[in-house]
Amino acid sequence: MEFLTASSPEGDFGNQLKSLRVLLWSICPIPVPSESKARATSPFCSLILRVERIYLLHRTMNHSALGLLAVFALIARAAFSKFRVRDDVPRLPGPSSTIASWIWGHELLVFQHAATQMYSIWARSFGGLFRIKAALFHPDIIVATDHAAVQHIFAKSDVYVKSPAFRPPIKNLLGEGLVWAEGQDWYHQRKMLSPAFSADSIKEMTPAIHECAERLETRLTNLLLLDISRSKNGTNLNIVQYISACTLDIIGIVGLSHSFAAQSARPGDMHSDAAQICASWDSHVNTGLKPLAFLAPLVVRAIPAVARVPLPLMQSQGVVKTIVRRIGRKILEREAQKEDSDHAPAKDILSILLRARRAGKDESLLSDEQILNNISTFTMVGHETTAGSLAFTLWELARNPAIQDRLREEILSCGRDLSHDDIQKLEFLDAIVKEGLRLHPASPQTERIALQDDIVPLSSSIAGIGDTFRLRKGQVIHIPFRTMNTNAEVWGPSADVFDPTRWLQARRDPASLPHGWSGILTFCDGPRNCLGWRLAVLEFKIILATLVRSIVFSETGVRVEAKISPTLQAVVHGKAGVLPLYLRLV
Ligand code: HEM
Repeated sequence: MEFLTASSPEGDFGNQLKSLRVLLWSICPIPVPSESKARATSPFCSLILRVERIYLLHRTMNHSALGLLAVFALIARAAFSKFRVRDDVPRLPGPSSTIASWIWGHELLVFQHAATQMYSIWARSFGGLFRIKAALFHPDIIVATDHAAVQHIFAKSDVYVKSPAFRPPIKNLLGEGLVWAEGQDWYHQRKMLSPAFSADSIKEMTPAIHECAERLETRLTNLLLLDISRSKNGTNLNIVQYISACTLDIIGIVGLSHSFAAQSARPGDMHSDAAQICASWDSHVNTGLKPLAFLAPLVVRAIPAVARVPLPLMQSQGVVKTIVRRIGRKILEREAQKEDSDHAPAKDILSILLRARRAGKDESLLSDEQILNNISTFTMVGHETTAGSLAFTLWELARNPAIQDRLREEILSCGRDLSHDDIQKLEFLDAIVKEGLRLHPASPQTERIALQDDIVPLSSSIAGIGDTFRLRKGQVIHIPFRTMNTNAEVWGPSADVFDPTRWLQARRDPASLPHGWSGILTFCDGPRNCLGWRLAVLEFKIILATLVRSIVFSETGVRVEAKISPTLQAVVHGKAGVLPLYLRLV
């Protein structure tokens, strides 16, 4: 830094010009281009840059010049701020800072409570848009449940993105598939993958889903018949592990015509892919309850580079990815030897994608790598999500015997062999599925970051702000789906109660409901909504119908908590993935 040592008058003048630039730079809110990305994601980076600037400033000028230049810079800053989109965040209401930790903000309370519980409490007090104190001195976070604001945020998926800091862990866990992709890459992948999830493609998967559901029915009924020590209530089983094995088998068959044989795998057998996947997931969800799981994403948010450090915690979660890619690669090699006409068209997702690629002339069709990354993504996100919500729905049926009996009556009145179209006609089953997904969304909340300043429309105006809300680039927004799904203003005073009959009553005015599948946010909304929602709903219906026709579920009386880790988990006595129920034969 030559100018720091210059002593001639010209040198002084040069110094002062440079000092003016440094002073403006240290006070002015415009990030210089090279640092703009860091400021958007990391307050730590921003803090370090500012300290660096002030240090530089002190070394470059004398105090009288500093005074003059400070006045000049403040005027410049005031003039500049007139031309910027102003920020309404400071005017938002929010929980008192007295209940926030000085270092963890309100985020620790959110982590310590049941899934989205704190957001629901605060939304009742502060309305559809409020702010909370973030951990590690990060700027305040907005929590959005206002219908218009949430619809706007999800509709502008190129402006509001998932946190870039979490792309490396997602890549490690799932691969560079649809959940990981952004921008043009995402658009291209989504366009190519969507036909495999169309209504027609999913309908073709019905027999495979029936087969797996019936295997689960047989497995459970055999267990009940053989259990000589059962109590008068029936046999006490952790229903999560049975449902989860069934959904893993389903995704194996409908995803890549591969049987994981999860329903016949012995739990400790580490030669079995299914046992390895289940063990890895079990360890993942239980690690997610520990304080480290609270800390790790906050550190990644503050210092994004940490996500690239090869720490065991960041690297060890790719078991599903490794296994599915190995199986998928073998299938790709085998398929490459064959001509399309050699065999009857398979109906699994991988075959649909390969057929589309063979038929298409477009160079932009998915590569082998992209197909493998997406098959591993579907296996992971399509298996535990459905299992979690389904286990909670069975728990609701166990606690509501009259509702369970009514469902059984409806199913038995239609005979045993239900076709895809028969299933769609079962109104009470449909109502139970919607109610289960409303109260127990597998992904209870999400996060978005604004890539640019924006003006967000509101359904309910906010005192002192109005009908629109201004926010700045870099703003973090939390959207708690479960809070929106249980909003008493939409669902009435019984919003938190499992009452499927609400879906049988006269249809609500769509304008009073949030924008999303059936007026709930369980499958998100906008261009990045859940790609697998049709498959999830069909699995839900077939598994419920198959189990309830043969088995009676009742509750065990244990306290079940709902936590996020990383999807919705039933937690009993501090252990995730546990939901005990009594089962007996009909
Ligand atoms: C009850 C079951 C399910 C629920 C509640 C659910 C929920 C969701 C939600 C909320 C998102 C958006 C996440 C976010 O942006 O933060 C999502 C995305 C996604 N889901 Fe699901 N999901 C379920 C089952 C499935 C299944 C069975 C599959 C596929 C086999 C699947 C594939 C995907 C994919 C690929 C995305 C990313 C879409 C994109 O970014 O374009 N999901 N899901």
